[in-house]
Amino acid sequence: MCGIVAYIGQQQAAPIIIKGLKRLEYRGYDSAGISLLNGGLNVYKKMGKVAELEALVKDKSLESTIGIGHTRWATHGEPNDINAHPHQSNSGELTLIHNGIIENYASIKQDLLSKGFTFKSETDTEVLVNFIESIKTERQCSLARAVRIALNAVVGAYAIVIMSADNPNQLIAARKGSPLVIGIGKGEFFFASDATPIIEYTNEVVYLNDFEVAIVENNKLTITDLKEVEKTPYIQTIEMELEAIEKGGYDHFMLKEIYEQPRSIQDCMRGRLNAAEGRLVIGGIREYANKLVNSERIVINACGTSWHAGLVSEYFIEEFCRIPVEVEYASEFRYRNPIINEGDTVFAISQSGETADTLAAIELAKSKGAIIFGLCNVVGSSISRVSHEGAYTHAGPEIGVASTKAFTAQLTVMFMIALKMAYKRGTIADSTYRSMLVEMENIPLKVEKALQLNEQIEEIAANFKDATNFLYLGRGYNFPVALEGALKLKEISYIHAEGYPAAEMKHGPIALIDEDMPVVFIATKDSGYEKIVSNIQEVKARKGKVIAIVTEGDDEIHKMADHTIEVPHTLEPLMPLISVIPLQLLAYHIAIMRGCNVDQPRNLAKSVTVE
Ligand code: G6P
Repeated sequence: MCGIVAYIGQQQAAPIIIKGLKRLEYRGYDSAGISLLNGGLNVYKKMGKVAELEALVKDKSLESTIGIGHTRWATHGEPNDINAHPHQSNSGELTLIHNGIIENYASIKQDLLSKGFTFKSETDTEVLVNFIESIKTERQCSLARAVRIALNAVVGAYAIVIMSADNPNQLIAARKGSPLVIGIGKGEFFFASDATPIIEYTNEVVYLNDFEVAIVENNKLTITDLKEVEKTPYIQTIEMELEAIEKGGYDHFMLKEIYEQPRSIQDCMRGRLNAAEGRLVIGGIREYANKLVNSERIVINACGTSWHAGLVSEYFIEEFCRIPVEVEYASEFRYRNPIINEGDTVFAISQSGETADTLAAIELAKSKGAIIFGLCNVVGSSISRVSHEGAYTHAGPEIGVASTKAFTAQLTVMFMIALKMAYKRGTIADSTYRSMLVEMENIPLKVEKALQLNEQIEEIAANFKDATNFLYLGRGYNFPVALEGALKLKEISYIHAEGYPAAEMKHGPIALIDEDMPVVFIATKDSGYEKIVSNIQEVKARKGKVIAIVTEGDDEIHKMADHTIEVPHTLEPLMPLISVIPLQLLAYHIAIMRGCNVDQPRNLAKSVTVE
């Protein structure tokens, strides 16, 4: 969690840093700060969003061509002005920004206290900056060496940038476990947690690897490992359009991203799927393609919305390929001594490609000899780099904390992978394969149609904005969609919501149903239709309020439900791509009507880079 930005060059650093922090606010937004070298190191920091920091520094002299900034998602110490970053060393000579957690900070702090260091905040970061200072003073060494020595002693995760009062031409950065990108401009360098603060200035970047230290000094970048062995920076050119990360006329990023789905699904298929030619190519899976196709068992690791995409993927793979699949919460998998054998197949699904638990889970699986296939949205992200092979979802930057277009892109790419595997295994009839390809190509248009329901959904939302609980029920492919619909609502509107398999309702949730309980049924015409109709009757018999997502032209449910939302028909496996759209919009409108900040819901962050 947390976003970091730093700049060194000839331009004014403060505006670049503040703008960059705003782009990174999705990573955390409970406090923000900036440090500039301007007659000594000045630090300005404030609890709240980057806008509060901006107001704080409005009248300050911010003249400086070097600086570091941070937007925080609290781990050690509550969100307040003092715990905000940057943190300054006792002498005032160093300031540091940090994303991650220093796990052994308590013992280091104890040692520093015994040496006379004092601490203002409760953070592990203030311990780290003073640890570096103590090493630098005791050993009389360069700052870069002190940083390396300190990081060799540190347990945990970090991406840091450190600035020194006595060297206006130097910034030092390092990473282990938390992302850090360095932008290389003409006579200037940018550091950030992802490329979004950098791309309007340069598209040449270096993704720092774990255990690497980057030193920019006198306009030159040097990278070493923690033992001081120099490494050659691998400079990449990134392609990302600035307008893709701006709101583009929508009130919120979330709404923009919901509306982008016809295009993002299309982008995900581009160059991969061609129904007319019967072609399906996943360019990122080549060397290990046979291994994948012949898998005896597949394990999918993910968190949050990506885990829901994993559940749908399980259905795809088991139905089309007849290979057993297990879907794991990465945070559970990694701590329960899972059975992974040499050559097993493991998928990691992650929008950000940085989720700490997913990353650790696949590293564990890799250490046991598994072949890892990464499904990430963020190009160059950690998961994409540690995976053996994989595929990008190509949904474009997703800024809204609640994931929407990344989910449908994940379904799209997993559908294509499963279909391709099934074709190669001979477990799918040729005619089914072809009709699936044709229908997948139709999905963007059908999603477009589902988006036209927006006004109706807004009206329905008005009836339920004051609800305190919600139940989401679905069967088969629509069960993970029920989970996702409930997650969307609770994330952004703070209404308690539960997703359940519709039949399982009788084993508990039915006790909750009364006239105040809205129940969302995802009841499209598929193999479980008759059963779900019975479930709707069971809810109506107990006076629950039913909102049903149905297939166009369905009048059976129309007669029973309080509200019906009609979505276009599609093949059963592809329905999640369509049935989730009204649920995203419903959550969005309810949250807006409740006055919630949908793009930055409380306590959440887009990218969870801590365990
Ligand atoms: C956070 C985000 C969710 C996301 C989850 C997994 O909780 O708020 O939207 O689904 O992390 O993130 P990933 O980047 O691994 O998909």
